[in-house]
Amino acid sequence: MVILKQPDEIDKVQASSRIVAETLNVLRERIKPGVTTRELDKIAEETAQKRGAKPAFKGYRGYPYSLCASVNEEVVHGMPSNRVLKEGDIIGLDFGVYYQGFYGDAAITLPVGRVSEEAARLMRVTERSLYAAIDQACAGNRLGDISAAVQTTAESAGYSVVRDFVGHGIGRNMHEDPQIPNFGKKGRGIELQTGMVLAIEPMVNAGGYRVKILRDGWTVITEDGSLSAHFEHSVAITDNGPEILSRLN
Ligand code: MF3
Ligand code: CO
Repeated sequence: MVILKQPDEIDKVQASSRIVAETLNVLRERIKPGVTTRELDKIAEETAQKRGAKPAFKGYRGYPYSLCASVNEEVVHGMPSNRVLKEGDIIGLDFGVYYQGFYGDAAITLPVGRVSEEAARLMRVTERSLYAAIDQACAGNRLGDISAAVQTTAESAGYSVVRDFVGHGIGRNMHEDPQIPNFGKKGRGIELQTGMVLAIEPMVNAGGYRVKILRDGWTVITEDGSLSAHFEHSVAITDNGPEILSRLN
């Protein structure tokens, strides 16, 4: 069941999402060779707490950290560790908070120092697939329009979209209906309505779409070891079209 939000509720998802966006911006400044993903986790936790928000991932289904930090062939749910970032890595940072009764959730993938043109292109295309999807988040469109926008953007660049993980509705719960696959057909699926709030999150692999989960029970990696990128925004569908709640400014 999809829970529609009133404007005052959308404002609250926006307040949470802004804290997420600010935190990702703080992290962005700290990404350089030599930093460990555990240091990034601590910075994320402290940044959110300073703003009165609770990191949403910590304790979620037993997840032990505040941040997901996914390096290179790691797709999502990378666990912060003593791993040291090195020049040429790419790192996906996924963060969520709970604030005044509502969740916000967003993710970005960033270069560590200078990266290969192939890595840079993967990140560009993945981010572009997110914005193509957001463009479809309009009342009267169908959920499949969002999914197809991601898939078409990624596949026409020669990449593949992950099948096993999806975007989601967001609000008083971090994960609400509908599930939002990153593949699908235009014109299919539920009709989008004003008041829906969606966390749209393309996960795009440079190689094949298959993934596997490491023995830690969390870290998702590409089966073929190819690079993967992930971007996410929390987006409200309004009478004036899509509104990106996790954008700064
Ligand atoms: N941002 C992820 C999502 O959208 C949540 C990470 S899973 C967690 O579903 F367990 F780490 F919280
Ligand atoms: Co999410």
